[in-house]
Amino acid sequence: MEICTIKTQPYTDQVCGTSGLRKKVSVFKQPNYLENFVQSIFNSLTGFEGQTLVIGGDGRYFNAQAIQSIIKIAIANQFGRLIIGQNGILSTPAASHLIVKRKAFGGIILSASHNPGGPNGDFGIKYDTAQGAPAPQNLTDIISEKSKTIDHYWSCNMPDIDLSKIGEQSFGTTIIEIVDSIDDYAQYMETIFDFDAIRSLFQNGFTMIYDAMNAVTGPYAKRIFEEMLGAPKNCVQNANPLPDFGGLHPEPNLTYAKELVDKMYAPDAPDFGAASDGDGDRYMILGNRFFVSPADSLAILTEYADKIPFYQGKMYGVARSMPTANAVDYVLKAKNLPVYATPTGWKFFSSLLETQKITLCGEESFGSGSFHLCEKDGIWAILFWLNIIALTGKSVQTLTEELWKKYGRVYNSTQSYEGLDSEQAKNMLDVLEQNLPSFIGKEINGFIVTETGIFEYTDPVTGEQAHRQGYYILLDNARIFMRLSGTGSSGATLRVYYMKRETNSTELTHDSLTYIEPLVEVFKQISNIYMFTGRAEPSVRT
Ligand code: G1P
Ligand code: ZN
Repeated sequence: MEICTIKTQPYTDQVCGTSGLRKKVSVFKQPNYLENFVQSIFNSLTGFEGQTLVIGGDGRYFNAQAIQSIIKIAIANQFGRLIIGQNGILSTPAASHLIVKRKAFGGIILSASHNPGGPNGDFGIKYDTAQGAPAPQNLTDIISEKSKTIDHYWSCNMPDIDLSKIGEQSFGTTIIEIVDSIDDYAQYMETIFDFDAIRSLFQNGFTMIYDAMNAVTGPYAKRIFEEMLGAPKNCVQNANPLPDFGGLHPEPNLTYAKELVDKMYAPDAPDFGAASDGDGDRYMILGNRFFVSPADSLAILTEYADKIPFYQGKMYGVARSMPTANAVDYVLKAKNLPVYATPTGWKFFSSLLETQKITLCGEESFGSGSFHLCEKDGIWAILFWLNIIALTGKSVQTLTEELWKKYGRVYNSTQSYEGLDSEQAKNMLDVLEQNLPSFIGKEINGFIVTETGIFEYTDPVTGEQAHRQGYYILLDNARIFMRLSGTGSSGATLRVYYMKRETNSTELTHDSLTYIEPLVEVFKQISNIYMFTGRAEPSVRT
């Protein structure tokens, strides 16, 4: 095996977004594109020689090929051990767990999360630190800087590794270890939740379906729900990770997880329905003909966390991303615990989790997590729900409606305008920004605007600042929040987040999209979205 220096030229577009570098597969397939970025990651780190690197991905198209390149670059850069999920598969939470469990220096996760896969789809790469946490902003900035001047990388001449064979082999001074992708993660889940209680739930006839959306979580769900917990056989659907996700858009929400949603609203619907996204860090919870919004889910996990021994006596506080509706705030107020509202992106939770300022955290985009890992975790959240149901004997719907009765219901909806022309979207937001102060005190579609502004954030632990994280408009008992997505691979996606609180007990069971509609009208009026972009309606509503 011979280490070689390969000359290259930089690409100027390797800028990390909300979660790593995400581009079309065709972009990643350009000569040395992936290799440049991987070497730029290593060029931004020090002290990894002889240390361990975890590698895995969500199984999408180009996953296996990328892993073979990364192996060669990592060996040439003198990592001591590479731990790789069998067949190149590791969900984002399982990778995070392996990094911590095996005391790795860090990890490389290949995923574009919920974005479509296949030769015409997206690919992505992100770096996790030794804490199993997404690389912080200052590190991703350095990686992007290094990528602009890179002129060579190191690799080695060696055959491709058989990723299907569990076991160890040595190359020079590096050991390559292929591990079962599920074992460690499943064992960890067993230490967090009461598997016996969940097993009894299923023994007593509780029914569920889980939609893996042909993405990474299928094998995890089969092992944990069906084999370990005795959930109904074949309740895990679309269970095989496919390179193009079988054409599905593996994003667990009401729009993209339609197959599951239809089944959960059918006359013979089971008691419980759940789905995860491409890389397994998001989740959606459904009851029999009932949908739980991510904001309500976080509030319910918070309400019941102290019933789960793993969290007993360890409830410090909870963080939600600013766009997430604030249902959890009311639960925390009652429990006398602090809430933190962070910018979008999981990395903003990391410092709070690491310093025990928070126990749980969540986003409106169907991701929740806790200090058990520094990544969001879909299967964990679903197990949390099953554990609460097993302990209380209450249905998904009852648990949610009880929350609303106790604290009021925060109706909410996220509406995304995907595929906008970037220039047009920017113009619209520039004008909106200029106009923001002029809305204060005005009545728009029956709402009085009380405050407007740009969301700025200072990390309470590190003091790091994040500027211009979105625009907010506060109205009586309601809020509209707007920002541009940072995870798209082309064009611009505008996300508009609506919420309105209702405490009248006779008004708690409306359809949330209908309830929010008057706020949507406010957005249309203040943004002039149709005039700027030619688009009147969003492409995704959840
Ligand atoms: C989206 C979600 C955000 C999440 C991110 C990574 O980012 O909205 O909550 O943290 O994916 O999973 P966006 O496309 O909005 O920048
Ligand atoms: Zn994801």
